This record gives sequence, structure tokens and C-alpha cells, in this order.
Amino acid sequence: MAADRRRVAILGATGSIGRQALEVVSARPELDVCALASGSTDLEALASAYGVSHVQVGGDPVALLEAAEPDIVLNAVVGFAGVRATLWALEHGVTLALANKESLVAAGDLALDAWKRGGGLLLPVDSEHSAVFQCCEGRAPETVDSIVLTASGGPFRERPLHELDAVTVEEALAHPTWSMGPKITIDSATLANKGLEVIEAHFLFGLPYDRIEVVVHPSSVVHAIVRLRDGAALAHLGYPDMRVPISFALTYPERRETPVAPLDFRAGLTLEFEPPDTERFPLLRLAREAGERGGTYPCAFNAANEVAVEAFLRGLVRFTDIATVVEDALGAVDGAPARDLDELVEADEEARRHAAGRLTPT
Ligand SMILES: NC(=O)c1ccc[n+]([C@@H]2O[C@H](COP(=O)([O-])OP(=O)(O)OC[C@H]3O[C@@H](n4cnc5c(N)ncnc54)[C@H](OP(=O)(O)O)[C@@H]3O)[C@@H](O)[C@H]2O)c1
Repeated sequence: MAADRRRVAILGATGSIGRQALEVVSARPELDVCALASGSTDLEALASAYGVSHVQVGGDPVALLEAAEPDIVLNAVVGFAGVRATLWALEHGVTLALANKESLVAAGDLALDAWKRGGGLLLPVDSEHSAVFQCCEGRAPETVDSIVLTASGGPFRERPLHELDAVTVEEALAHPTWSMGPKITIDSATLANKGLEVIEAHFLFGLPYDRIEVVVHPSSVVHAIVRLRDGAALAHLGYPDMRVPISFALTYPERRETPVAPLDFRAGLTLEFEPPDTERFPLLRLAREAGERGGTYPCAFNAANEVAVEAFLRGLVRFTDIATVVEDALGAVDGAPARDLDELVEADEEARRHAAGRLTPT
């Protein structure tokens, strides 16, 4: 029987996830691109290649989504800019394939309310969360004891603390196992990415923070582990390739084939694990603390981190200043919960102002 046709809106279509999503869509006759959005990159060529008339560069995506009437929104925008699309899809019960973790981190409480009202599917695209989702599928929540998110450890996993001040942008962008956009690559080097993922997991799976663990696993073959209450642990394995979780979300629950090679156990797979070092990588600890404090602290963590990462990428601050800027911003904001999107935007802007005020030239 032919699969149902699906109209997919790809937001962040020119980025790393967006381009891989277009590759996945091209290989699946039942998937049609109905809308494309980018931040500033021209979309004319992509729109003509995919025969798409609903296209937007920058700005609020809501009118675009209303006009395009997607069955699935793939939110692959980077940063807080993805918040409106996340809230729109959840509120309208449109399936949300979520790569843009920052939106769930910043707007977690509002997103959960919108999801409850909309009643649609929220399918994580982040590889770790897709892995947890798959390991938990069909299981009663009370059977899950805790989850373990794996982290590659980034390019500075073995770098001593006293050398981290001097690492360059080029070194930080050289991720050992994943090829990704610049912001998430820096977040992986500081472990802020894993911190964002802890908060993302809290909202996605409804688990308290003390049941969300992080472990460093340099080869990135195990994406996540779910511990069950009887002592069993289920792991999700695969080569690090985002086309798998993207395809999983876009073809759910069909689980279509992808061009990704199956694991080859004769090729020397190494499955090593070690605890993360939050002294060298304090952003993981700061994210967890922000998540535990709740309110708009996660929003402030994300906002300050975005400002500091951008400054690092532009050569304005050192690698280690990213954590200092975020910690200072978290100490300066009031973290009061946001009752609506306007209040959330205010909290985001307040944290950005604090962070920008702390940027000192290197
Ligand atoms: N890359 C990965 O492997 C990976 C894995 C897991 C999760 N994620 C998450 O997926 C998201 C995207 O990551 P990425 O690596 O694909 O980033 P990326 O390569 O930097 O791409 C970001 C995309 O967002 C677009 N964008 C930026 N600002 C926008 C705005 N205001 N409105 C609409 N679009 C905007 C960019 O458009 P322009 O081209 O115009 O700048 C680009 O298409 C992030 O939240 C990241 O954490 C990524």
C-alpha cells in the first residue's frame, strides 16, 4: 500500500540539518517540501529545485506556515529564532520534527502547554533524544528509571584546563565525530550543547533532572541509553549521521531505509565511557542548574550562550569567556516564569543585554 503523502515545511533549509533533510525528502516519494525558510540566505534556487512557492528569508515564520499548511514542520533553525515555529506547530497539532533544541530549552513551559492544547506529535531530531524516544516507545513511563545522554566530549576532551584559554576558533570548530553548523559545534566543544540537551530531555520526556545523566562517549556510536526499573539498560547505536534521526522523524512511524551503513562490528568499534568534567566544561553544570531553577533561567542560559558563542566565533572573546559570560548573566536576571511569548522574548532580551555588557575584548 502506498504511504500517505506528507507536506513538509523545512525551516533552516540552508543549514546542516536543513540540507540533510532535503536529501532525505528527495529520496522519499511520499514526502513533498511545501515551505522553505532561511535566516538570510537566498532561497530562489532551492525553491525552484523543489517546486516550492512558500518561501521566506528571515522574519516571523507564522504567516508562511499558515499559508503552506504543512503536515510536518521540521524546525532546523538555529537558536532562539526557532521559538515561534515550535510554538506554532505545537499549538496547531501539526507534527513537529524538532532539531532546534534552543526553542524547547527557552520556551519549555509554554511549549508543553501548547503541545497539550494542540495534541500533535513532537518528534525529536536531536540524535540523543531520537534515541531515547525510540528506546522508550511503547513503554509505560513508570518502567523508565533514568536516561543517559552521550557526549563526544568535543575537540578539547583531553585538553588541560590551563590550555583552554588559548584555543582558537578553528580548533573549536574541528569536531571529532559530527559535521554540524558553527553554533552547535562550539556548543559541543564547551559541552553547553549537552547542557541544552539535558534541559531539552527534561521537557520532552517529563523526567526530573536527577534522572537525566550525561556520559562522555568519544566515538559517538551509542546515542543514548535508557535504564529501566528492572536493572536492564537499552542503548541505541549507529554511526553518527543525522540522516537517521531526520528520516525517523519525517517517516514516523514507518521507519524507512536510509543510505547510512549498518554498524560493522569487525571494524574496531570502540565503546568507551567516562564521566564529564564540569570543572573544565562548566557550561554543562550551569545548564543543569538553570534547568533545575526553572522559570526563565533556561531561556537566559540559552540567550547568554548564544551571545557569547557569537562573540567567540567573531574572535571577540576567549573560549573560556563563554562560560563566564553565561554565569554572570544567570546571576543578573530574575528568572521569573514567562506567562506568554512576549514575556519570554523580554527575558531572552534581558539576558542578551547582560551577556553583551560582559563581553570584554580578548
Ligand atoms: N547539525 C547537526 O548535526 C545538529 C544535530 C542536532 C541538533 N541540531 C540543531 O539543529 C539546529 C540547526 O543546526 P545546524 O547545525 O543545521 O545549523 P546551521 O548549519 O547553522 O543552520 C542554521 C539554519 O537556520 C537558519 N536560520 C538562522 N536564523 C534564522 C532565522 N532568524 N529564521 C529562519 N532561519 C534562520 C539558517 O539560515 P541562513 O543560511 O540564512 O543563515 C540556516 O538555514 C540547531 O538548533 C542545532 O542545535 C543540529
